[in-house]
Amino acid sequence: MTRPLWAKAGSDADAQSGDKSDAMSFMSRDDVLLDRELFEHDIRATRAHVRGLASIDLLTRSDAEALDHALADLAEDYKAGGFVLDTSYEDGHTAIESYLVGRVGETGKRVHLGRSRNDQVAVALRLYMLDALDRVKAALIASARAALSLARAEERTPMPGYTHLQRAVPSTVGLWMGSFAESFADAAELCVLTRRWIDSCPLGTAAGYGVNVPLPREQVAEELGFARVQINPMSAQASRGRIEAQVVSVLWQAMQEVRRLAWDLSLFSTEEFGFVTLGPGFVTGSSIMPNKKNPDMAELLRGSAAVVGGALAEIQQVVSLPSGYHRDLQLTKPPLIRVVKVTLEALWHIPRLIETCTLHPERMKAAIDRAMLATDRAVELSTGGLPFRDAYRQAAAEIGDATEIADAGASIDARVSLGGCANLGLDQIEARLRTLG
Ligand code: ARG
Repeated sequence: MTRPLWAKAGSDADAQSGDKSDAMSFMSRDDVLLDRELFEHDIRATRAHVRGLASIDLLTRSDAEALDHALADLAEDYKAGGFVLDTSYEDGHTAIESYLVGRVGETGKRVHLGRSRNDQVAVALRLYMLDALDRVKAALIASARAALSLARAEERTPMPGYTHLQRAVPSTVGLWMGSFAESFADAAELCVLTRRWIDSCPLGTAAGYGVNVPLPREQVAEELGFARVQINPMSAQASRGRIEAQVVSVLWQAMQEVRRLAWDLSLFSTEEFGFVTLGPGFVTGSSIMPNKKNPDMAELLRGSAAVVGGALAEIQQVVSLPSGYHRDLQLTKPPLIRVVKVTLEALWHIPRLIETCTLHPERMKAAIDRAMLATDRAVELSTGGLPFRDAYRQAAAEIGDATEIADAGASIDARVSLGGCANLGLDQIEARLRTLG
């Protein structure tokens, strides 16, 4: 292992370099591998820090240029696979500094003036999370659009509406799919709102108490594209993990919609319902039962929502800490990075999952019985002047639990208030999607 950044005369660090000791492995092995996800952000923030130091004359122009070139090369080498971030480093931060020392000698040792790994990891994570929210938002919008176009194509196709999984009132595929379009849009908006909330730069807070040099914090934050500076260093440290929890809770919201869709599709594709056949790429066979077509994709999407919920709980457990940096916070990285991947992978499949479904309108129609028109009848009687409770009882007596198949057309056409089957507001939902990006 390369010498830790914190090695000094009389420290234990030298005893721990060479092969990683068990203790060092425990403290950093997975962490340095996770830093692969943060590495390019860390390099970018390091470049901004270098420029900041140069602008307050704590680095000469030529040292700053040498460092900047070396950092640009590191980013490229890393992308191309020439530089590998592995367990020979304590962490990504150490790897950057040792690369710089290797490339520009003594000048490389100047890069850490005015910063700590505490603000270094915080800024890299912040950039990573901003990027993750943008990517999740784009995937949610693509999912919403797929749902919206199926809603438009099958706008008035009747299907039963359920409450408690019991037949309730006639509904439409347009209403069902429109619900996913709007709910995915809601989750995309949460990405936007959370993005705004976390769009502040912790770099320059150092170990959590500031430093005795006039760092140009605003300039560095602006260069990195942040909307503002996270001012108070202790507050910046206290937000570590809590910001992660907020981001993961947005992912959890997104995945709740994925879970609902997956639930509906797995239920409606059973032979008992028979409303939907899932696309051939999304079902699997059984190793013993030749007749089976299993909705594994829907089930794994549903299970992925549980994984995201678990990660949220994991982060929440870690962050109950007193003021100041604590190494516990490192443990918020694995759940965050794990579920950003899980969510993006899950969302990636949603548009095709929706597009490749085959609907069976005749099966849907056959599941709408005359009893489901009782609510319409009660409303109709009471708009004629009867108090609703009397109308309700009369409709119950007239229709009761009539089981013959009903024609739902008139019922659907009469649902004219905004959001109802005859007025789904799909244009409004589409307009909102456009504003979200
Ligand atoms: N891997 C560490 C983390 O994620 C980096 C910061 C280390 N800071 C320290 N004071 N040991 O928190």
